[in-house]
Amino acid sequence: MHKDVGLEPIRVGLVGLGTVAQGTLSVLAQNAEEISRRIGRPLVITHVGARRDRPGVDLTGIKVSRDLMAVAQDPDVDVFVELIGGTDDALALIEAAIQSGKHVVTANKALIAIHGNRLFQMAEDAGVMIGFEASVAGGIPVIKAIREGLAANQIAWVAGIINGTGNFILTAMREEGRAFDDVLQQAQALGYAEADPTFDVEGIDAAHKLTILAAIAFGMPLSFERVSTEGISKIQSIDLDYAEALGYRIKHLGVARRTESGVELRVHPALIPEKALLANVNGVMNAVQVHGDAVGSTLFYGPGAGSLPTASAVVADLIDVARVLTADPTNRVPHLAFQPSAVADLPILALDQTRCPFYVRLSVRDEVGVLARVTRVLADYQVSLESVIQKEGVEGHPVGLILLTHTVEEASLRKALAVLAAEPIVQGEAVVLRVETLGAGS
Ligand code: HSE
Repeated sequence: MHKDVGLEPIRVGLVGLGTVAQGTLSVLAQNAEEISRRIGRPLVITHVGARRDRPGVDLTGIKVSRDLMAVAQDPDVDVFVELIGGTDDALALIEAAIQSGKHVVTANKALIAIHGNRLFQMAEDAGVMIGFEASVAGGIPVIKAIREGLAANQIAWVAGIINGTGNFILTAMREEGRAFDDVLQQAQALGYAEADPTFDVEGIDAAHKLTILAAIAFGMPLSFERVSTEGISKIQSIDLDYAEALGYRIKHLGVARRTESGVELRVHPALIPEKALLANVNGVMNAVQVHGDAVGSTLFYGPGAGSLPTASAVVADLIDVARVLTADPTNRVPHLAFQPSAVADLPILALDQTRCPFYVRLSVRDEVGVLARVTRVLADYQVSLESVIQKEGVEGHPVGLILLTHTVEEASLRKALAVLAAEPIVQGEAVVLRVETLGAGS
């Protein structure tokens, strides 16, 4: 059970001394006075756990332990902040902190997406709270916005650019014509990327975040293993250019949409109309568009990664916890926005059942009748076309056929493309990208 700390300083134990932790120390130091004006008492880091020294990080006056568990179990710590990332040690540390009656703040999206259901139950039982605002979209307070600001609404869909590294890469490829690997290295140097950057480029990080957003938006359990996930590693500059010629931008999106038959949970690159606000979110910036039945569409925009922006969300959670320490614990905002007993499983749709327009790039032989054959096969599967661009091949080389379809069920398009793939007129593999209309017409 959490301790009544009166109006004494709130004592914070923090594990990890990486990018976000260093930002958290800076924000707490630089804004100490403003923060204590907001919560009515000081918020003080009293114990830091770090497995190794970090030269240049000022820990004067703070107890430092090599054993991170010593922080999680320290009876003189009121709030435990986990900033080591990963899902093994972080899980054990958070469980220990909860068991010793501490509130927890974490930026660990993988941990919440995979183990959140159980951790929230543990926290409920122990009468403590877990703050995880920093786990989604860095500095953007989107969890609070959905959980509290939009609490009056039935949320129809959430669509976001929720991986800063991926957006940084796609933006530099499009605007500066730079190579994928080169930009990824820069994103790593700037502290945006995950320890394993495949989490960023293959969409796993975005899937963690989408899992959390969907649970909060729809009142469903965290269902990471049910998210359909595709990364951006196969996106080529040529597709960024063709998308632009068609009036679109390619962005790496996370989409959670409630339909009559279930919930779509998907992360993949998608074409977005170039005038849409999301299409103009560039660099490391993130944005999450949330459509509620009462409010309509809202857009939350800001830095999605990086030291100080993520620290901004960590410290906001710490301030929330500090306020809760003086409030009625039975009336806290629930972890997943809905009362735990009202969180209800929902059917989750397979990607095949998703309906949207598609961008398809085919390499075809430069022969008479090829376009007619392609459109005939597509029509056989009810795939109709909105536009076609034909890129002439140099003598003897295949022709690029860039197709933009009308809305169609993904299964139909895949069947038509399988038929075409078996024909000698089509060469190589088709590039297929979904187009996200962001609720237009729905
Ligand atoms: N690697 C993550 C990103 C960090 O690039 O978005 C923030 O969660």
